Amino acid sequence: MKAIIPTGGRGTRMRPLTFSANKHFIPVANKPLIFYPIETVANVGIKEIGITYNTGGLEEVRSLLGDGSRWGLKFSYVLQEKPAGLANIVQVCEDFIAGESFVFHLGDNIFVDGIKSEMDYFNSKKPNGLVTMLHHLENRRMGVPYFDEKGRLLKYVEKPENPPHDFAIPGLYFADANFFNCFKGANRIKPSARGEYEIPDAFQWMIDQKLRVDVIEYKGVWLDPGKFDDWLEANRFLLDKELKEKMESVLGEGSTLEGKVSIGKNCKIINSKIKGPVIIGDNVALEGSVINPHASVSDNCIIRNSSVSDCVILSGVKIENIKRPIESSLIGKDTEIVSYSDQDPIKLFIGELCKVEI
Ligand code: G1P
Repeated sequence: MKAIIPTGGRGTRMRPLTFSANKHFIPVANKPLIFYPIETVANVGIKEIGITYNTGGLEEVRSLLGDGSRWGLKFSYVLQEKPAGLANIVQVCEDFIAGESFVFHLGDNIFVDGIKSEMDYFNSKKPNGLVTMLHHLENRRMGVPYFDEKGRLLKYVEKPENPPHDFAIPGLYFADANFFNCFKGANRIKPSARGEYEIPDAFQWMIDQKLRVDVIEYKGVWLDPGKFDDWLEANRFLLDKELKEKMESVLGEGSTLEGKVSIGKNCKIINSKIKGPVIIGDNVALEGSVINPHASVSDNCIIRNSSVSDCVILSGVKIENIKRPIESSLIGKDTEIVSYSDQDPIKLFIGELCKVEI
């Protein structure tokens, strides 16, 4: 059994961060998002993962993920020329999968409690396809299963207007090699109205061919950091539940720690309060500042005379002399937020689609 994890896509819901960064490598709780799916898949014993990328993306993706050996895995990089839908991601992996069964785990979904029972179900019951479902209030923006009176999967529809219940199908799919036949022959699947090969259409094709597609409920926690609010929510959840205490720097004078805190190497922490759950990367300088719960501060940041809470702060950010607390914010790499005096006007040098609330 092999796995497929994509790194492509347009990342429109995470703009402006995704103008300059691939969403899959933006951190949640100081770990690049895509590391979560990689670890989830590795934890169920899979050894070979096909990592798909879009044209122009290979160099960045490979430099960040390597050959997989860091996780004891073997990565094969597979080109998906353009973001033409989730089913197309699987389609371009046909040679890599080479007739085996596979699990397709979206690179921006986190199945916090692992996928062992789903994997065991697929391997022991041997359906041709398996998807999971979970309760979700916003299932109108997801794939939705429809059942017959015996509870068998009848239809699987992408983003329906009036879903009959609150179940949605998250980004975890299992199938055997029959899946690839949906791209072949006269009745092969066609792109949807938005021009994409949709994953529900591929499974619907299997259902129509009388192949067995099962659905089981995912009972664990699923996180979907697809947009700004969800990113902060995922960050809060992972800091609350998964953070491991760590102290690799010396706490400087006048500083205190409270609650669960993880601090990396070479940090300079002076006259500051850190109230966990908080994660701080390497080479971070904190001075006269308060780092409140649910802040994730990446490497090489400087925070002086300021207070932050419920924030995801990417590397190299400088925050200085900000009188009012900075809260519920996502701050991109190497950004500077500084104040030299209360009297001066606000000066901005920011790009498209940024949001500044003062
Ligand atoms: C995609 C799938 C959808 C699935 C969702 C899970 O939607 O098309 O069926 O429920 O991922 O995250 P997208 O995020 O591309 O809108």
